[in-house]
Amino acid sequence: MAPTATPATESKDDLEATVKKLASLKPIGHSSFKGDVKVGYEGSWIEGLPESTKARYARHGVDISNGYPYVPENDKIPKFVDEAYAIRNEDYPFIERGKNADPEKKALFGAAKEVRNLTKHIGTEIVGLQLADLNDKQKDELALLIAERVVVFFKDQDLSPQKQLELGHYWGQVEVHPQVPRINHQLDGISVIWQDYFREKYGLGLTFKKAIGGNSQWHTDLVHEHQPAGITHLHNDAIPKVGGDTVWASGYAAYDKLSPALQKFLDGKTAIYRSAHQYIDRENPLKGPKYVEREHALVRTHPATGWKSLYVNRSMTVRIVGLEPEESKVILEYLYSVYEKNLDIQVRFNWTPSKPGLGTSALWDNRISQHFAVWDHEGNEARHGTRVTSLAEIPYFDPESKSQREALGLSLN
Ligand SMILES: [Fe+2]
Repeated sequence: MAPTATPATESKDDLEATVKKLASLKPIGHSSFKGDVKVGYEGSWIEGLPESTKARYARHGVDISNGYPYVPENDKIPKFVDEAYAIRNEDYPFIERGKNADPEKKALFGAAKEVRNLTKHIGTEIVGLQLADLNDKQKDELALLIAERVVVFFKDQDLSPQKQLELGHYWGQVEVHPQVPRINHQLDGISVIWQDYFREKYGLGLTFKKAIGGNSQWHTDLVHEHQPAGITHLHNDAIPKVGGDTVWASGYAAYDKLSPALQKFLDGKTAIYRSAHQYIDRENPLKGPKYVEREHALVRTHPATGWKSLYVNRSMTVRIVGLEPEESKVILEYLYSVYEKNLDIQVRFNWTPSKPGLGTSALWDNRISQHFAVWDHEGNEARHGTRVTSLAEIPYFDPESKSQREALGLSLN
């Protein structure tokens, strides 16, 4: 029997009713999460907060008396993809703090006890300096150092969330995430990174057999933004005794690994980048969740160093614009493998401070890197931190710019 046709007006009313119903529901959440998104303050989780985190908050007068963590209320979280697109969709002036810094970084290095490069191509640790004490000159020099070394570490820090936020504002527009957990409703721009909480509340199903997912996979933060992430500063205040490391890989070096012919092919190309979270399509609400997707330069020039970087990652790069889907898939797979398989362009960092009770900070530049949080502690020991991300410029490709090795006069073979 042929289906009965529904009058057009009735189906339109039905659609509107469905859209209204969907809008009243809870947000969909992170693509890796299986459960509902929880909103408001959590009462019971405060008991499970690591002692070192509680002590840090108490030392710095951070109010967690209402519960912990805090997730924005339901009516403040975007449910429709058009609402998510509208967040920070306007051009925002960005000042690259590393651009006019002293190339020798005398103010920063002079105040440190030791400056230690952890590998040849990526990662530097600064010893004997508190991030909370940096003056503007030192912050500029640190921005340049991060731009050159991709990621910079500071152990044994007594850093308040308020100071961490202030540092983030200095380096760019601080990203306020519409739905990830926060410390409280006052500290906008600080995301709580607490793997135990994510795992249990959002059903992030990490196990020993499946230790890849969420932050534990190669990714770059916030690539779907109109002006994607520059410096991300993660301060971990609870760290497993053994393990819980993070690995970073350099985008400059990944670009330098490619043949001149492939570099030339990719220069000037763009790709589509998507969000980690999903939303409802208002025009087609029953078709399933949609991501925020934006087009950015695939090879981008860093404004402070002027070096070219390969801007792709397995989690969030959808396709290369202008290529057939199969072509794009094969090339992207190869580019991911360059980042992931070349251990000489990676640094693996253990966060354990040398003084118990203090925390460790990592500051990395998302314009020129990918990272991966290793899930070897299996949630048996707490890992908790606060994250602040400074958004940077709209990605661009300067055809006159050089690769890192070219600029430094290193062998191109
Ligand atoms: Fe991340």
